[in-house]
Amino acid sequence: MSTVLLNKINDVKNTVKEWRKEGHTIALVPTMGALHSGHASLIKKAKEISDKVVVSVFVNPIQFGPNEDYDKYPRTLEADKKLCDELGADVVFAPNAKEMYGEKKLSDTELTFVCPPYNIVDCLCGKSRPGHFDGVATVVLKLFNIVTPNYACFGLKDAQQLFILKNMVNDLNVNVEIIPCPIVREQDGLAISSRNTYLSADERKNALTISKALKEIQRLYEQGITSADVLFDSAIAVLSKELDLEYLEFRDYDTFEKVNKVSKNTLAAIAAKSGKTRLIDNIIL
Ligand code: PAJ
Repeated sequence: MSTVLLNKINDVKNTVKEWRKEGHTIALVPTMGALHSGHASLIKKAKEISDKVVVSVFVNPIQFGPNEDYDKYPRTLEADKKLCDELGADVVFAPNAKEMYGEKKLSDTELTFVCPPYNIVDCLCGKSRPGHFDGVATVVLKLFNIVTPNYACFGLKDAQQLFILKNMVNDLNVNVEIIPCPIVREQDGLAISSRNTYLSADERKNALTISKALKEIQRLYEQGITSADVLFDSAIAVLSKELDLEYLEFRDYDTFEKVNKVSKNTLAAIAAKSGKTRLIDNIIL
């Protein structure tokens, strides 16, 4: 059976109703499209763990800041649908903004938002992207309410997003199991991202030093170095000077507390701009 493309919330709800009657389990893979092998790995995981798979493709306006790349974000629905077909997803849900948010002004003067706790949105990526995670949590809760999945697959590439969504599901008693999926990389180590298409050859070369810096952290940690300061300095030495570093931080993967002494469950996370393109990557030690 080939993948069905649905644009309307009610069509998704009716499809889900039929599946439920037949006793199927459902996994959701939320995406903003421009699908690549990172997304594909999530879809494969979703297929493994449940009977039916819904992939949502929605460039969510409320998670982009006014000076971010909402307009420029790659939109490749036809190719996305083809990939979903090949991977055996059952439904691609691709609503437009009006279908998702109606006629309301997309601001908290009119729209109900999910606001994750200040402590976890006001650090790392949230610091330079005010309101971003409110927009993410809001759209993901809406998708959960529309699709009512048993499982939802998210990539560890966006570790802070994953942490925030795990908290949301727990705090608001949402009946969905969040499935974390490993980061997929290019052969040379660059974490795959829809935004990599923006990079020139030189910018890509510089971007590659992000994963190299993370590898260096891993290597030194395995040699017994646990001081976050020492690991920070060693990673900085590997990062291209052409990059505009936003943060390099060490946090506990389970609590997101900053750590001075790294250990087995420490997340080392980097955000940096290569040219105008903002990139993120991380490892869990
Ligand atoms: P998007 O950037 O399209 O990513 C969709 C999912 O793919 C996320 O869970 C992300 O972590 C995962 N992903 C992206 N690149 C990956 C890689 N290289 N390896 C593994 N997983 C990867 O994240 C979003 O969209 C949006 O914020 C969304 C959750 C859909 C809400 O709008």
